[in-house]
Amino acid sequence: MGFIASRFSRRGFLLGAASIGAFGAGSKDSCGDNLGLRATAASKGLLFGSLMRLSSLREDTTYALMMERECNLYVCADMHWRLVAPTPTATDFSKVDPAAAWAQAHDMRFRGHALLWHLQTPGWFKELPDRGAAVAALQAHIHTMCTHFAGAMQSWDVVNEAIMANGGMNGLRKTVFLEKIGPEYLDIAFHTAREADDKALLVLNEPAVEYDYLGSRQRRRLLLDLIDGFKRRNTPIDAIGIQSHLATQGSKHLDDRSLADFLREVSDRGLKILVTELDVIDQASPSNVATRDAEVAAMYKRYLDVVLDNKATVAVATWGLTDRDSWITRGDEPGFRRADGLPARPLPFDDHYSRKPAYYAVAEALKAAPAH
Ligand code: XIL
Repeated sequence: MGFIASRFSRRGFLLGAASIGAFGAGSKDSCGDNLGLRATAASKGLLFGSLMRLSSLREDTTYALMMERECNLYVCADMHWRLVAPTPTATDFSKVDPAAAWAQAHDMRFRGHALLWHLQTPGWFKELPDRGAAVAALQAHIHTMCTHFAGAMQSWDVVNEAIMANGGMNGLRKTVFLEKIGPEYLDIAFHTAREADDKALLVLNEPAVEYDYLGSRQRRRLLLDLIDGFKRRNTPIDAIGIQSHLATQGSKHLDDRSLADFLREVSDRGLKILVTELDVIDQASPSNVATRDAEVAAMYKRYLDVVLDNKATVAVATWGLTDRDSWITRGDEPGFRRADGLPARPLPFDDHYSRKPAYYAVAEALKAAPAH
């Protein structure tokens, strides 16, 4: 059965929203105007969004109002294969349908992350006996997901993190999909998605193509070659997702010209571009909060100015909106932790939901963008 949004009412999700002032639609904020990022983005024909958590949307009214005010794109990462299909025969939409409904009730587009990601593949897939069984399972999964959400989806990350410059096999990461199926798993995945949903943008989502150092240049080349192969074989890819986990110490590797050139190579091939997981790691920035926030904000602005200058860019999404809820602040990876032990400040809002310089940097970049 497909996703049926009408079962859910807006009122059920945000009781009393109208009475809350902090982020209420009519409140005057310190931006000096009434526009949240969603309105600024929309005025340019763009989507602005964030990774969102349904539990926070339900339990934390300030969080929900912030998202509602700032975003016209809901990025859902609660729909990984491992999460929705704990067994080969069951698909559990119970955590995802309410997220899609919340998005719809708040006039947001909905974006799915991700149909295939080697790090979020169910254990049972790895145990399948042969290629035929693996292809069948992969097709069944993608068909089930894309059919269920057909019409409700702005974009699907069909494959997440497929490329690997060093240590891969012909430029592809050695994932369970490559091992069990071969490089055709990519074409199979995109075809299966398109057959089930001809509206959603089908996206290949990749990290580490933002900078201009050797490994990054290699990844850019591999990505363009992969797109060319897709085009030759009529494999239906619509867009590239650029994850955009940036870092302040990366600013020396950010080359505006080569980034713009790379994006033009993508758009010249007829593909759209999405910034999918934007945040700025501040590990190497000073302890002083004002200095740190300024460095983070400068990175947001400089990067978005380049990406938004390309009219093929359709969406910008951050990986969370508040420092209270970020994989960087949580320190999931040692490379995120600060030597001074202070919490990281990677996102547009601080952990008390106040706007930071990064917020205004995003707003300025959206305002400066050409109409898309
Ligand atoms: C991150 C999540 O935010 C974390 O909670 C988790 O511990 C690790 O994964 N690239 C991706 C995202 O495509 O799914 C990752 O998200 C960040 C890197």
